[in-house]
Amino acid sequence: MTPHINAELEDVAKIVLMPGDPLRAKYIAQKYLKNYKTINTIRNILGYTGYYNDKRVTVMASGIGIPSMGIYSYELFKFYNVDKIIRIGTAGSFKQDLKPNDVVIATSSYSESSYARTQDNTKDKILYANKNLSEEIKKSAEKMDVNLREIRVLSTEAFYNETEIPTLMVEKYGCEAVEMESFALFQNANYLNKKAACLLTISDNLITGDEISSKERETKLDQMIKIALEVV
Ligand code: HPA
Repeated sequence: MTPHINAELEDVAKIVLMPGDPLRAKYIAQKYLKNYKTINTIRNILGYTGYYNDKRVTVMASGIGIPSMGIYSYELFKFYNVDKIIRIGTAGSFKQDLKPNDVVIATSSYSESSYARTQDNTKDKILYANKNLSEEIKKSAEKMDVNLREIRVLSTEAFYNETEIPTLMVEKYGCEAVEMESFALFQNANYLNKKAACLLTISDNLITGDEISSKERETKLDQMIKIALEVV
């Protein structure tokens, strides 16, 4: 047990899919996993381990934001001997042509967060996903005929803010979308010599105001979930 995870050591698989939302973790387990069991309930950060095509996989929520992802991914990598974590989340688009429902892979993450500096004095503001794991995800998407755009995301600390202007983020930092967890995930993976990748569905466009509908939220997220499960 760790302060935040009450799973038994052997109940966590080597590969973990991490949505932000605990109820999405539950939905994935119920819909896609065979013989699954609940492995974490602390703070309702639900986690499940089961089988997808006979491959063992854990699905556990990260919660929202860098500190939350920082805690759960660290404890999974460090104390539960997890090798790979694939975040499966949503992001807001900074570009007109990156539309709600589009699926993207974040191969790098820019952040003003102090998380990496605080953890081990890493001063980089751009952190990278694992190349091999990201390639596997790209191949899985190709097999499913999903056009997967490779992008850099902004990993923000403040969902509500006045400074991270979309056009500025695109022009100055090359960020095409915004989310709130990848920076902590990539930092922990790099720090602990593990593998992390980040697959995202665009949920809203911050330029046009377009949003994914609640019906689409389920079916389109299913597409992303399947891409990640096929990697397992
Ligand atoms: N900001 C931050 N994170 C997000 C957003 C957003 O607009 N949309 C989905 N995740």
